[in-house]
Amino acid sequence: MQAVRVRVSKSKNRKPIKVVGNPIHTVRVRVSKEYNVKIGANLLTTLGQEAAALIKGRRAALVSDSNVWPLYGEVAETSLKDAGFTVSSFVFPHGEASKNGETYLRLLEFLAENQITRTDCLIALGGGVVGDMTGFAAATYLRGVSYIQVPTTLLAMVDSSVGGKTAIDLPAGKNLAGAFCQPVVVLCDIQTLDTLPEEIFRDGCAEVIKYGVLYDEELIAELYHKGIAFDRQKVIAQCVAHKRNVVEADEFDTGDRQYLNLGHTVGHAIEKASNYSVSHGRAVAIGICIVARSVVKDKIANGFDCEWIVETIKRVGLPTTTDIPPEILAQNALSDKKRQDDFIRVIAPDHVGECWPHSVFVDQLPDFIKRGI
Ligand code: NAD
Ligand code: GLY
Repeated sequence: MQAVRVRVSKSKNRKPIKVVGNPIHTVRVRVSKEYNVKIGANLLTTLGQEAAALIKGRRAALVSDSNVWPLYGEVAETSLKDAGFTVSSFVFPHGEASKNGETYLRLLEFLAENQITRTDCLIALGGGVVGDMTGFAAATYLRGVSYIQVPTTLLAMVDSSVGGKTAIDLPAGKNLAGAFCQPVVVLCDIQTLDTLPEEIFRDGCAEVIKYGVLYDEELIAELYHKGIAFDRQKVIAQCVAHKRNVVEADEFDTGDRQYLNLGHTVGHAIEKASNYSVSHGRAVAIGICIVARSVVKDKIANGFDCEWIVETIKRVGLPTTTDIPPEILAQNALSDKKRQDDFIRVIAPDHVGECWPHSVFVDQLPDFIKRGI
């Protein structure tokens, strides 16, 4: 087994993260485009104002899914209309199965039919699926239009809405067609989480734990002790600040951003092998545990005990293993974007802040996964 400790996950230019009890917490992201991520209650009603301040045109294409639209579509539309926008709405069936080329092309046609121009904007109202789809359409329609992220799941608030990764799935694998395209603002209205089914809220905890394992003992302690009853605004703001730090250091994913892939290589394989019946969050939780156990069994990390990770994942009600055979998972992992020739790089969890990229040869991947199941 090849163990290569090349870099630790501690970011060199980490900025202090202070989350105070403000009604709205703002994290400024300074990358190729600068933008704010706002976290607080009732932000959905400010959508129109925010859009009017940032967008020159006065047409908005509101993109949402069949679950989120009936809950929040009207509030979003009213807010935009009150601010002077002409709104057209594109709603697609909820779920990962819609994050495909067909929906994407229908969305592009819809934008053209509704005469959305380069000065207008798209708005992603929903979870990571809506955000990834809308972002990819914004990156490619007319070679790029502005878009606003209004994430409504915990996962989308802490991770997918920030940092500009956009994508759709191909039959060959997850997120295989995509682009980097930063939003102009992200509005995390924590009240929208009140309608989120608990199972889906738990999914988002996998990404929170990811940030905890990578960078933040306090985050892990919060979830370890409180389960899912944690302070939402504070935890979301902490995760967004971690993501901001990573994205500012490596916007285009050529270096430190790869750490955010913790749990994802095996996780994506689980999603694909299960035909997406295992959700992203659950798959990532299992992926983190499998790699952690394997690293412990192979004694790759000195004195590392992964029980604290596995226990935190259990305490938020997420699974820690799968009955999908390792050979099938390994096969599905081979289409992962992080594969390089004859090896695949997974992020190996270690003590907080000391995770590192670990290269596993493709022919050894089934055994590596087997040891961690
Ligand atoms: P999702 O968008 O499918 O949302 C999960 C479910 O919750 C859906 O059925 C949705 O309709 C419903 N829902 C959303 N908000 C709701 C609300 N407030 N109330 C009631 N129901 C609501 O899934 P997700 O977990 O948000 O995101 C997963 C996706 O995000 C995956 O496709 C994954 O690849 C992607 N992702 C992208 C990045 C990135 O950096 N771009 C990072 C992580 C994950
Ligand atoms: N969610 C992984 C990334 O943004 O890089």
